[in-house]
Amino acid sequence: MPKIKLNGKEIEVDGKEKLLKICLDQGAFVPHYCWHPGLQPAGNCRMCLVKVSNSKKLEVSCMYPVAEGMEVTTECPEVDAGRKAVLEYLLINHPLDCPICDKAGECDLQDYTYKYRGGLSRFEEDKTIRPTKDLGPNIRIWGNRCIVCTRCVRFCEEVAGTGELCVIERGDRSVVDVFPGIPIDNPLSLNVVDICPVGALIDKNFMYQARVWFTKRTETVCASCSLGCNVETTVLYNDIKRLQPRPNAEVNQHWMCDEGR
Ligand code: FES
Repeated sequence: MPKIKLNGKEIEVDGKEKLLKICLDQGAFVPHYCWHPGLQPAGNCRMCLVKVSNSKKLEVSCMYPVAEGMEVTTECPEVDAGRKAVLEYLLINHPLDCPICDKAGECDLQDYTYKYRGGLSRFEEDKTIRPTKDLGPNIRIWGNRCIVCTRCVRFCEEVAGTGELCVIERGDRSVVDVFPGIPIDNPLSLNVVDICPVGALIDKNFMYQARVWFTKRTETVCASCSLGCNVETTVLYNDIKRLQPRPNAEVNQHWMCDEGR
């Protein structure tokens, strides 16, 4: 059990955990897009930068192993500047879709932009256009909104085991897509919508149904089968608009099936 200093406070940590998980468990704020507690870390988005005493540059905390005596700082001007620069890069090709995007109100990109960027953009060139299309019977992608964090791709590989999603193209044209003629249509497919940190993947059943800030959320249990997945309802004017899973490590981890929804 190595001891580290997190924001000046000494703590004992599990040496097998990566730094981001430790910071979040300790209540320290570290913005992140590609890391998800139910998936393997990938280090794609670069948003989870922190300062560590044994490195001269800022480090990506979701991939960084802990070591005895390490000192970690999650909030300081240098870290803020790094995150701000990463966010500017992520926003370069992102459209101002918030007024028509179903993710508005629960979007990490919105929240972090509000915190770090203050609504200003220096980008005057033409944005790259990527396709908007159906990926399967229940899921539609807005390619322009995708920040290629690959949470959805990893979910299909690691959890569903079906691997329908992949990243096509290179550089600023990179986007999530399906293989030709093989739509995403597995029994767990809609979890990719829940874990999309921006509004790129949209559940067609919920599309344009409600602005989330008008809805009420209630914790409950899915009654579709005897497993009893922990879920949360999103209700607008007494009408249940969607079900989403609630984490429960003993029952459904972070997921629920499309049948239950
Ligand atoms: Fe660490 Fe994306 S959360 S790189």
